[in-house]
Amino acid sequence: MASLKRIGILTGGGDCPGLNAVIRAVAKAALGGGLEVLGIEDGYLGLIENRLRVLENKDVSGILTVGGTILGASNKANPADYAVPTGDGKWVKRDVRDQVVKHCNAARLDALVVIGGDGTMGGAVDLIARGLNIIGVPKTIDNDLWATDITFGHHTAVTTAADALDKVHTTASSHHRVMVVELMGRYAGWIALHAGLASGADVILIPEIPFRLEHIAGKCLKRHKVGKGFTIVAAAEGAVPVGGKQFVDRVDPTSPDPIRLGGVGRYVAEEVEKTTGLESRSIVLGHIQRGGSPTPYDRILATQFGYHAFRLLVAGQFGRMVVQRGGRIDSVPIAEVAGKVRTVPTDHLLIEAARALGTSFGDRPA
Ligand code: F6P
Repeated sequence: MASLKRIGILTGGGDCPGLNAVIRAVAKAALGGGLEVLGIEDGYLGLIENRLRVLENKDVSGILTVGGTILGASNKANPADYAVPTGDGKWVKRDVRDQVVKHCNAARLDALVVIGGDGTMGGAVDLIARGLNIIGVPKTIDNDLWATDITFGHHTAVTTAADALDKVHTTASSHHRVMVVELMGRYAGWIALHAGLASGADVILIPEIPFRLEHIAGKCLKRHKVGKGFTIVAAAEGAVPVGGKQFVDRVDPTSPDPIRLGGVGRYVAEEVEKTTGLESRSIVLGHIQRGGSPTPYDRILATQFGYHAFRLLVAGQFGRMVVQRGGRIDSVPIAEVAGKVRTVPTDHLLIEAARALGTSFGDRPA
């Protein structure tokens, strides 16, 4: 710890339940160890714009159970590919990595803890190559980060999603409807798979298993025929028809990852209604999945991750991201993680179990 005097913490990418729990763990452990701690505002944007503030114990007290991030976040500030307005409604991408390094050096940061997803880890790799000492902590409700079995925030999102699926049962059964709930997760189906299983959804659609409408319709009709007058479909936003494309809700030119998925739930509900004559509705759960207080599981995981990040700092093991593998907290080089997506393996035991219990993934006849 001798050469380590001052650290910075930032939360990059989309907000996520448990971010504050990590900030609290890193900052409390560091302050307790005699370090100075600076909070960087709005992720990498704060390093681009030189917005840093001192964090003291009082700043990180009482935030364990609070959703969001006290530091603010941005998913539009990749220093290698930073969008700057040209003034005529257009944007030009600039490389501002040297500016970020300059601001870190000016703030006399000996090390940086970056809490984020794949975009944040990708940004970290660039900055490590420019000489910054960085530790990564994996965050995302999507649970799609490489090298870790779990990311904090996922459990809370699944809890919220399962609760929504449970609640639509009431209307589905009362009105004999097909109810499709579109869930987040980007290009991975973890939220839909876990929430769908937790609430006993009849159909689970995930990006990893392309669906055929006829099989979803067949499942709804089959249930109808045996007197189960309703069907619940948990659809990941990245779910895709066989031979088709993912549904895009919007394209954000200011974001390094410009595609925002959305629309598959509505498509499935409309097509199922047309084919089967069964009344169908769709719901997009959206950012509710990112909101609210983290579950106790996520609070504990985030605290463990944050404390382990502190231990890596003290040990001088820079360039590494904290992970949980096989139930153990460990770390891997950040470079190993960046640019990869951890999707659901199609032979995952949960898929096998769900199929055995009659759940459809929309890829086989019911
Ligand atoms: O990665 C988290 C996530 O919530 C995804 O599940 C979703 O596709 C995306 O972010 C939404 O991004 P935004 O908040 O920019 O709409």
